[in-house]
Amino acid sequence: MTSKWERIKDNDGFAAEDVRREQEWRKRRKLEKQKKQAELLHKESYSSFDVRSFILNQSGQLHSCDSIDSYEVLNKIEEGSYGIVYRARDKRNKNIIALKKVKLEKDYVEGFPITSLREIQSLKLVQHDNIVKLLDVVTGRSGKDVYLVMEFMEHDLATLLKDMPEDFLQSEVKTLMLQLLAAVATLHHHWFVHRDLKPSNLLMNNTGEIKIADFGLARSLGEPKPQLTRLVVTLWYRAPELLLGAPSYGKEIDMWSVGCIFAELLTRSPLFNGRSELDQLSKIFNFLGYPTHESWPQFFLLPHASQVKQPSVKSQHSQLRSAFPFLTAAGHDLLSRLLTLNPAHRITAEEALQHPYFTEAPRPKDPRFFPTFPSKAKGEHRKEWNRRSDEEYTHTQRPPN
Ligand SMILES: Nc1ncnc2c1ncn2[C@@H]1O[C@H](COP(=O)(O)OP(=O)(O)OP(=O)(O)O)[C@@H](O)[C@H]1O
Ligand SMILES: [Mg+2]
Repeated sequence: MTSKWERIKDNDGFAAEDVRREQEWRKRRKLEKQKKQAELLHKESYSSFDVRSFILNQSGQLHSCDSIDSYEVLNKIEEGSYGIVYRARDKRNKNIIALKKVKLEKDYVEGFPITSLREIQSLKLVQHDNIVKLLDVVTGRSGKDVYLVMEFMEHDLATLLKDMPEDFLQSEVKTLMLQLLAAVATLHHHWFVHRDLKPSNLLMNNTGEIKIADFGLARSLGEPKPQLTRLVVTLWYRAPELLLGAPSYGKEIDMWSVGCIFAELLTRSPLFNGRSELDQLSKIFNFLGYPTHESWPQFFLLPHASQVKQPSVKSQHSQLRSAFPFLTAAGHDLLSRLLTLNPAHRITAEEALQHPYFTEAPRPKDPRFFPTFPSKAKGEHRKEWNRRSDEEYTHTQRPPN
């Protein structure tokens, strides 16, 4: 017969054994968890690498398998929704480049964000002087981070329009518009829609060249038009058919954005700065007039058409003319063709390139004669801006228009 103490001792023994087993079990669990995490990490980096090599293999244009160690980061330029952009130096040839670090968050395809995948694919497939060049795709030290290496551009048009001491001249607006239209025409020719054209996605260098960037929302269109998400294009640049819930859309949505950009280049303020989709629509209709059965028969069938109140302004062009009194008749015509409510009647990029606005005086300015501006992306400041721009404005031969 065992005494109470012996039983307790035995129980203690059991208890001690339990604790030991528990500790071992926990240790094993921890190891298993670590192993799983390592596997996941490996899978993620393998997936990123896999996607990367898949993309790299599609064309011989890019160099292969460089790492971030080849670049020295100089400063952060901007943090966008899909990535952080840095200015950096290529240690091998001292060239200044831009690095866009891909944010690894939601919507992954095999461990890689779909927006970045789209950006890489479209930048590789559509190359043009006025589309930012993708030089490489490199991985970070852990093999998990992915960076897009792009040519560096001193400005984006949103920052420039906000900070520049005086408006672009008409001749400069024409040059900028021609470059933008040439890039959009090429994109559309390859059946791509950008779906987020706006001044902050247009980059400019100090030799008067602009390039379209940020292809995170770009995608290729097939015929017949696929059912696409309507959650595209920043509100102020979003076409009315998207705001009205059209079930399908096409290249015309980019042309609407180009119209809004044209107006903004002329006045340096956004044309339709709505606070909500409905507010955006009412701003558009107040300015351009309400569609009629003749001008846009399909409008009345669109899902949100009944929610929009009919504005008092009836004339299609009256507001447009008075808002841009300095613009010639040809300029008004181009702007109103870009800002045509009915997408079926909106001008295409190819057609816009042939528009008489670009051949009448003042003629488009040679980009090499554009003034240069201090670059925020390079960390140059307003003080330098004033001093440099004063100098530039007095030393650059600027014709009256
Ligand atoms: N190649 C480049 N050279 C210089 N600056 C650049 C370059 N690419 C991007 N930037 C700067 O970084 C900003 C954000 O880049 P981008 O639009 O590609 O990122 P994003 O995350 O998709 O941004 P968002 O969602 O805010 O539009 C640009 O507006 C521009 O100021
Ligand atoms: Mg952007």
